[in-house]
Amino acid sequence: MSDFNPVRLIATKRDGEALAPSDLKDLVEAYTNGSVPDYQMSAFLMAAYINGLSDGEAAALTEAMLHSGTHIDLSDVPGIKVGKHSTGGVGDKVSPILVPVVASCGVPVAKLSGRGLGHTGGTLDKLESIPGFRTSLSVEEYRRQIEELGLVLAGQTGDVAPADKKIYALRDVTATVDSIPLIAASIMSKKLAEGNDALVLDVKCGRGAFMKTEPEARSLAETMTAIGARHDVPATAVLTNMDVPLGRTVGNWPEMVEVIECLRGEHTDTRLMMIVRALAGEMIALGGKAESASAGREQAQQALNSGAALERFRQFVEAQGGDPRLIDDPSARPDSDSIAVVRAPEGAKGYVDDLDALAIGHAAVGLGAGRRTKEEEVDPVAGLSDLKKPGDPIAPGEALAHLHTQSPEAVERAQEAVRDAYTFADTPPDRAAPVHARYSAEGWTQLG
Ligand code: URA
Repeated sequence: MSDFNPVRLIATKRDGEALAPSDLKDLVEAYTNGSVPDYQMSAFLMAAYINGLSDGEAAALTEAMLHSGTHIDLSDVPGIKVGKHSTGGVGDKVSPILVPVVASCGVPVAKLSGRGLGHTGGTLDKLESIPGFRTSLSVEEYRRQIEELGLVLAGQTGDVAPADKKIYALRDVTATVDSIPLIAASIMSKKLAEGNDALVLDVKCGRGAFMKTEPEARSLAETMTAIGARHDVPATAVLTNMDVPLGRTVGNWPEMVEVIECLRGEHTDTRLMMIVRALAGEMIALGGKAESASAGREQAQQALNSGAALERFRQFVEAQGGDPRLIDDPSARPDSDSIAVVRAPEGAKGYVDDLDALAIGHAAVGLGAGRRTKEEEVDPVAGLSDLKKPGDPIAPGEALAHLHTQSPEAVERAQEAVRDAYTFADTPPDRAAPVHARYSAEGWTQLG
C-alpha cells in the first residue's frame, strides 16, 4: 500500500475514470482499519454513485469487501445450503416468514441480514424487536445453529465483511444507497461470505425500492448473479413489485406481528404470501428438495398449512434468545399499542386506488422505525399497522392506518404524510403482478 493516496482515488472516480482492483482493495482496507476517515470514503462513494463503476470495478469492490473479513465455511454441514437476500423495500418482512418455511422443507438456510437502510427496513432491526432476540452471534454459534436447526439469521457475524458493515452505515446517511454497483457489491460481499452453496435474490422494483424501474432492477439482478457465478455460487434472481408496501404493517415490531400471523395462516395480504411462495419454490428447488420451483411452491404451502413452518420459527426465536411466548400472543408486548389513527378524508369514496411505498417508508422513519444518522437507535415498536391497501373499499372517516411510536410529537406529521400517500377512486385499480420475472443462468423468464 506504499503509494496509496485516497485523494488520487477520489479524484480519479470524480473525473469518471476507472480504478484498478488494487486501488479499490487499498481503499477498502484503509477505510476498514480506520486510516481513511468517513469524509474521504463519503467523497469516494458519492463519486462512484454519480459516475458509476464498471462490472470489473464492481467485482473488485465486492472482492475487497469479501476479503476484509472471514469467509464462513459451512462445507461440512450436510445438504445444499441456500441463502436469500432482498435488495430492500418497505414492509418487506419476507425473510422471517420464508426462512422457516424453507428450512422446514429440508433446505438449510444461513442468512446474514442487514439493518434498516434509508427508507427501507432491515431484518435485524425487525428480529431485535422481539425482546431478548440476539442477532449478534459468533461464527461458532452460527455454525452450530445451522447444523442443529437448519436455519440461522444473524447480523454480520463475527468478522464477516466488516468493510461492508462500515460502508453500508455510511451510505445510509450520505445519500449513496441507490446505486447498482454499490448495492451489488454490498449484497454479494455478505452473501459470498455466509457459506451458502446457492442463492435466491429478491430484487425489488418500484417507487419504494432502490431500483425504481424494471430495466434498473434487471441490471442489478444481472450484476449480482454474474458476481455469484464468478465465485461458483449459482444465483436465481426474482424481480418483485415494490410500488406499494408489502403486507399491512411497516416498522419493526408491527411487522413481526404480521410475520407471526402469516406463519399461522392468518395473513391478510395475499400478494405478500405470493412473493413468499415464489421465493420458497426457487430455494427449495435450488436446495435439491423439489424437481421444480412450482413443486417447491407446493411444498412451501404444505409447510405453512401443517404448522411445520410456525414450529420452526418458534424454535429459531428460542434458539436466538427471543421470548417465544410472544409468538402465541403478540399482544402481550405491553408498549406496542397504537397511539393514533389516520382517517380517510371526506372525498375518499369507493376504493383505495394507490398507496405510495416511498412516502410510507419515510413516514415510518419519522415515527422512529428507521435511522436518520448512523448513531440513532430505532424505536422497536414504531411504525404503522392495519394499512388499507389498493383495492380495499373505503369510506370517509374510516381508518387508513394505525400509528405506533414512543415519540408522540412525531404523530401529527406522520398522520399528514400517511394521508397524502393515499389516492382513492370509484372503481378498484388494476394492479401490477407482485412477482414480475426471474433470472438465472438460463436467462430471463417473465412471470407476471
Ligand atoms: N441491501 C444491502 O445489503 N446492501 C445495499 O446496499 C442495499 C440493500
